[in-house]
Amino acid sequence: MAENILIKNDATRMQKYGLLLPQLDALLGNEKDLTANLANFVAALKETFGFFWIGFYLVKNDSGKDELVLGPFQGPVACTRITFNKGVCGKAWADNKIIVVEDVEKFPGHIACSALSKSEIVLPVRKNHEVVMVLDIDSDKLNDFSEEDAEQLQKLTALIEKRL
Ligand code: SME
Repeated sequence: MAENILIKNDATRMQKYGLLLPQLDALLGNEKDLTANLANFVAALKETFGFFWIGFYLVKNDSGKDELVLGPFQGPVACTRITFNKGVCGKAWADNKIIVVEDVEKFPGHIACSALSKSEIVLPVRKNHEVVMVLDIDSDKLNDFSEEDAEQLQKLTALIEKRL
């Protein structure tokens, strides 16, 4: 496996996605361990884009009900558990679709893990069409995520999906 990510600092965000995709695929390589892959995934995105917070919440049933439980992440400490259909993450899970939030204060039920988070994108990660985790990215800038980000990030989460 490749062990470093090389992205030019002066590249645009869209160029960075293009440069990152093959490098991340090589970084994950043939590794089957989910925790290792999720940890390197979030570290690579943090290193490339400097997002304020990036992490996975995994669907688990260790409390008698299905809920999202915090997984590997980069950034400030965050909420541990999220109920189905609650917050942006729970809604992306329930609706099985990507959610882009321009202004978190305008999203009903948004869960504020940090007051510095201003906009957010959440992508479901699926196994056999079922959501098994979500990727959550928070920005400290308003309106930081576009449909293009959604499209490009989905190509990145597909690297996780194909290894599940
Ligand atoms: N804002 C998320 C909660 C997770 S934190 O942002 C890390 C939500 O509303 O689901």
